[in-house]
Amino acid sequence: MSESTSAPEWWRTAVIYQVYPRSFADASGDGIGDLKGVTAHLDHLASLGVDAVWLSPFYRSPQNDAGYDVSDYCDVDPLFGTLADFDEMLTTAHGLGLRVIVDIVPNHSSSEHRWFQDALAAGPGSEERGHYIFREGRGVDGELPPNNWDSVFGGPAWTRVTEADGTLGQWYLHLFDTTQPDFDWTNPWVADRFDEVLRFWMDRGVDGFRIDVANGLAKEDGLPDLPAELVGKGGDVIADVHPYWSRDESHPIWRRWRKVTDEYDDRALVGEAWVQPLARMAHWVRPDELHQTFNFGYLLTPWTAHDQRAVIDESLAAFGGVGAPSTWVLSNHDTVRHTTRLALKEQIPHGTGVGPLSPDRPDEAFGLHRGRAATLLMLALPGSAYMYQGEELGLPEAIDIPDDTREDPTWFRTGPEVYGRDGCRVPLPWEASKPAYGFSPTGASWLPQPPTWALYAADAQAGVAGSTLEMYRDALRLRSEHELGAGRLEWELSPAESLQFVVGGIRVVTNLGDDPLPLPHGEVLISSAPVDGSLPKDTTAWLRAE
Ligand code: NOJ
Repeated sequence: MSESTSAPEWWRTAVIYQVYPRSFADASGDGIGDLKGVTAHLDHLASLGVDAVWLSPFYRSPQNDAGYDVSDYCDVDPLFGTLADFDEMLTTAHGLGLRVIVDIVPNHSSSEHRWFQDALAAGPGSEERGHYIFREGRGVDGELPPNNWDSVFGGPAWTRVTEADGTLGQWYLHLFDTTQPDFDWTNPWVADRFDEVLRFWMDRGVDGFRIDVANGLAKEDGLPDLPAELVGKGGDVIADVHPYWSRDESHPIWRRWRKVTDEYDDRALVGEAWVQPLARMAHWVRPDELHQTFNFGYLLTPWTAHDQRAVIDESLAAFGGVGAPSTWVLSNHDTVRHTTRLALKEQIPHGTGVGPLSPDRPDEAFGLHRGRAATLLMLALPGSAYMYQGEELGLPEAIDIPDDTREDPTWFRTGPEVYGRDGCRVPLPWEASKPAYGFSPTGASWLPQPPTWALYAADAQAGVAGSTLEMYRDALRLRSEHELGAGRLEWELSPAESLQFVVGGIRVVTNLGDDPLPLPHGEVLISSAPVDGSLPKDTTAWLRAE
């Protein structure tokens, strides 16, 4: 373990790189990335300079939601390899000084999980049904769902089962796909099972967990209807009180998980929690709860000086107020890549995607230029930063994916209305001149890669001054040398539509306006675009402040 990653509370300042295993690197040649592929490319991550890796699910799963539908929490899906492959990956990562965080999916399992199959077989009123949320339907014959909740992926959040005797029976809740039944977290049996899962992976040596749908586990007693104004809003709801998002009954769960992780050295819990406002999200990272939550408020913030400054201040105040680090994130496997998203004329709800018929199709070069400026701004901020695989290559969202190759359940549940998330999940280009750009030895790729992606391949950028890959490497090196993650941000006066602050002896300036601005004095350490006495629009520069 390197000095920075072996430091106590390493997560406070860490840069954590998200590996989406099915799209990172495929060693077997079947067109789907795997754990051996991850192991083979860990040196890329070490040389990039990140501190930790977070892996999206690689557990046994029928893959109806790309692995977020888990059918065995303690085994690796054969698609991705074996537990031995996992151990090898973990040992190699640790040997390179990289911490490893794994995903845990506690809101729901796969409908193929033995626990759900047992619940179906055991019938209404059984102990097994009590592990999930089964209810009688409404209407004369129970033909209507128990309430009006809808699934984040579109359509109702309830599915009716056929009982063992062939009659239509109870309904079960699934906030996501029909194949992702929600657990009943008021049942202590469920909490006990997840303690075991946490311990299983920590005993194997993982350094922490990214908690899927952390804001959904607790549901309101009695499962009341959603108020009319919230119906059809899917996962984008921001409401103080909501029957299933961000409920205060979640806190005892996190306190319990914190106790379990505290039995081990220095493990971290990061929650995927779409909680707003940030002052409320801060409750989730109080000293005896989660270590961190993703700062989605930051990810969703429009590219204006006013909005960016406001969200940075709000984040530092909210998280700092409870002694937690702020986190920062611009891209992940559920959102349009920031090189494309920040160049859209209109903001779109997360999870929606951009496709061939979308009215707003940003210029790729413009998006990359602005995306790089946003990255350099983010990597200067104190706290912990999350990166998504491929952003170090400047990858844009893949827009022209043929409909018949799409795999996101959102696409299947909403028809052609919502493209979903496939566009940010296209396999990475490693080598410009190889089949599938080196993603897989056979040239297979579970989603087609755009023909322009040779330009973005890692080997086409390595060692090339000014490339996005080298910009990330330099920025991460400077961030570490100047300990920016632990720094204190001090704003300075700057022209309208720009931001300027000093942190860790570095002056950071970002031009978010339409015209070039004069560049402050000082040695330029790095910039997102060439600067020559002036700071072009959509550009960030770091200058020596001493
Ligand atoms: C959030 C995950 O990031 C997303 O990919 C998944 O579809 C849902 N949770 C459901 O597990």
